[in-house]
Amino acid sequence: MRLELRDITKRFPGVLANDRISISADRGQVLGLLGENGAGKSTLMNILSGLYKPDSGEILIDETPRTFTDPRQAIEAGIGMVHQHFQLVPVFDVVEAVALGAESVSGPLGSFDRKTARARVLELSQQYRLNVNPDAKIEDLPVGVRQRVEILKALYRKSDILVLDEPSAVLTPFETEELFGIIRGLAKDGTTIIFITHKLNEVLEVADKITVLRRGRVAGTVDPKEATRERLANLMVGRDVELTVAKGPAQPRDVVLELSDLHVRDDRGHMAVNGVALQIRAGEILALAGVQGNGQTELVEAIVGLRAVDSGDITIDGKSVTKSTPRQIADLGVAHVPEDRNRDGLIGAMTVAENFILDTYHREPYSNGIRLNRQAIDERAAVAVKDYDVRTPSIHTYAGSLSGGNQQKVVVAREFSRPVRLVIAAQPTRGLDVGSIEYIHKRMVEQRDQGAAVLIVSTELDEVLAVGDRVAVMQGGEIVGVVDGDDATYEKVGMLMGGVH
Ligand SMILES: Nc1ncnc2c1ncn2[C@@H]1O[C@H](COP(=O)(O)OP(=O)(O)O)[C@@H](O)[C@H]1O
Ligand SMILES: [Mg+2]
Repeated sequence: MRLELRDITKRFPGVLANDRISISADRGQVLGLLGENGAGKSTLMNILSGLYKPDSGEILIDETPRTFTDPRQAIEAGIGMVHQHFQLVPVFDVVEAVALGAESVSGPLGSFDRKTARARVLELSQQYRLNVNPDAKIEDLPVGVRQRVEILKALYRKSDILVLDEPSAVLTPFETEELFGIIRGLAKDGTTIIFITHKLNEVLEVADKITVLRRGRVAGTVDPKEATRERLANLMVGRDVELTVAKGPAQPRDVVLELSDLHVRDDRGHMAVNGVALQIRAGEILALAGVQGNGQTELVEAIVGLRAVDSGDITIDGKSVTKSTPRQIADLGVAHVPEDRNRDGLIGAMTVAENFILDTYHREPYSNGIRLNRQAIDERAAVAVKDYDVRTPSIHTYAGSLSGGNQQKVVVAREFSRPVRLVIAAQPTRGLDVGSIEYIHKRMVEQRDQGAAVLIVSTELDEVLAVGDRVAVMQGGEIVGVVDGDDATYEKVGMLMGGVH
């Protein structure tokens, strides 16, 4: 069916999330909806799926205006949604999850005709090569398969229009390729598809048409055959962006960080890091790739002293820090850009200026031991804001009100303001706009060139390949491969991430 959204406007308190947005997709067409975090993509799709009511604007299906006051009506009209965060019931098996859906958890199971449902699930799974075992329990399935169950659910309900909201965020590169195959198959059979993403490569690969959203508005609609990554990035951000990381060859020197047979447990007491050995030298960037949840978080927390080591050793410049406190480790010249900047990196209720001195406020020149020297603090902040291109109304603005990219610049500026021997950066560009990503990468390379050892942990393959002088892959708590930057290809690293060694 042909789908058209015309002049959709949706306002939340203080935010114009959708500002007269118009998009359209023909039967059997894959529309890529590209935009930064907060551009308004999910809001638009929640309107289409009947979750939100638009302030104004129209939804047309096959040229007929439709209004949905709840999700059920949208489903009946043939719209299937695979949400950014899945909504499957873990204790269900695949047939139950597909046929009943989340909405019937407490409903009557008595009338459920399992045999017919199972046959239909199997048929759909085969027809679209979804390769899902109908009898498997949801909780036992890997995320990639769970997502295919979500797709099955939409197909089961006879969706002619399928919306996938950031579907690849949780997938390995291999699973993403499989998903693209499925999308193409569905489109070929006449399903209209809206594929939402913030990743340039993906949208270029799978979409027949690309609409770019920026700050709640349509920034442009382009034909992928004529579009370049640069053009798309420009539309997303509103200015030209350097997409490749400019850097010379690494000049590795002495070993700074060494991990030997490291074992670290997660919060539930399971071994999350299982015998990791790794060296990082001064003057090189080691990118640690891996799908989320393979022990990277625990590894980083152990290195910076936030998590106890079970066994094994961590040394920095030959000195064991296995039992050191975070403060002692920081004092060795370790800059830490944490994975969750809102929890560990920044205090939202403090000003930008105050955030710059979080770990040095008790020292000269910011304090004489009795009183804070406001002037020194402000001078320092003014310089850092300028040096790190932090877009803030003032240095006295609360850090919590800045955009993600600018918050991250505050964290990086603070961490890099001390002499740096070792950089530990976890997902340093997650959720950032393309422009800020470029900026953060430049600063990481700068540290390397000034002689720091740099560890960048990332789930984004593009980032890993762009910045890593060497690429290590972590899977199931172990390092399953280390590849030289020049040999690190999408296929090679992707395969290691997916568990193919
Ligand atoms: N339920 C809501 N209440 C208030 N603000 C919201 C709500 N949902 C989204 N927003 C805001 O609307 C804007 C667009 O968000 P969203 O549609 O989720 O963007 P995207 O999916 O492109 O990342 C953001 O500024 C976001 O904070
Ligand atoms: Mg979204």
